[in-house]
Amino acid sequence: MQYEDPSFAATLVAWQKEHGRHGLPWQNTRDAYLVWLSEIMLQQTQVSAVLGYYARFLERFPTLASLAAAPVEDVMAQWAGLGYYTRARNLHQCAQRVMAEYGGEFPSDPALLAELPGIGRSTAAAIAAFSAGRRAAIMDGNVKRVFARVFGIDTYPGERKTEEAMWARAEALAPAEGIEAYTQGLMDMGATLCTRSSPSCERCPMAPRCVAFATGRTAELPVRKPKKATPEKVAHMLLIFDRGQVLLEQRPATGIWGGLLSLPELAGHKAQADAPEDAAVATAVQSFGAMESLERLLPVVHIFTHYKLYIHPLLVTLSTRAALAGDGRYTWLDAAAIPGAALPAPIKKLLLDLLGERSQARMF
Ligand code: ADE
Repeated sequence: MQYEDPSFAATLVAWQKEHGRHGLPWQNTRDAYLVWLSEIMLQQTQVSAVLGYYARFLERFPTLASLAAAPVEDVMAQWAGLGYYTRARNLHQCAQRVMAEYGGEFPSDPALLAELPGIGRSTAAAIAAFSAGRRAAIMDGNVKRVFARVFGIDTYPGERKTEEAMWARAEALAPAEGIEAYTQGLMDMGATLCTRSSPSCERCPMAPRCVAFATGRTAELPVRKPKKATPEKVAHMLLIFDRGQVLLEQRPATGIWGGLLSLPELAGHKAQADAPEDAAVATAVQSFGAMESLERLLPVVHIFTHYKLYIHPLLVTLSTRAALAGDGRYTWLDAAAIPGAALPAPIKKLLLDLLGERSQARMF
């Protein structure tokens, strides 16, 4: 019980009693049917969206027995518009199981509740706390945010180790007395004070003990899902210049830059470390003419949505030009036509930058 701290629960309970939410339709009852229904509806759904559905659902299905006996289509119809429809199917199955296995009375043990359809560990704890006063810990997105800030937890809450540590804290902090107000207090704090953006720290009872508040990190905590590193690809591209023209290749219709004209690429050199030898470049160039000079230009980076492309330009001049092969894929384009040609933006920029530089140096 390394995280035990009775003053955390006492502070939260006192705040909930004075400033928390008290008039919600599923409060002030120990009827497990009413509590269970509200907790399922409130999964990933805001209170304001649930209120109308909750009232209408209970008019149509006033008891667990009536829900269990209804056709599943009627349950789906009542749920229509609330979203996450697996919840409705599970709700109906759960009602039938509680009728069959527990004589229509929900168990109060959170471990047994968690075995029923649609009831996860946190929902089981909420139902057990609200309907039976059982000491059990909840852990939803709101609670994770509160914990990350108050305790200064700076690892991603979606990570297994972090989540386990948060559960351990939650179990240790839950009080034996007043679990209802404590549980409601956690929910209320997360929903009304410790909001994702611009939390109301000036009104928060936890501010004096909050690590994020003390260190000015409420905007950074909880830490967001770490982004996967963008994959990187390398393309060695031939810039074959000859008599004021550049050699271009039409790209296949599908894939990146589909159907556009681009620079011919050297196959089989996908890695940065795998730079082609001069002889390999000369061989690749052979069908277009005899290589006179080769210059390796600095790579250019182009960022696509899913990866970064490092373009390694190989600037080649020819001593003699060969006739182009007959399939029409390759064309010689006058340098003057580059600005208006159907080229990918980074390729056009690369060519124009190069021409600008070299014409100043009178190299082409
Ligand atoms: N979210 C989940 N359970 C809740 C409850 N009982 N009251 C308010 N919001 C909730």
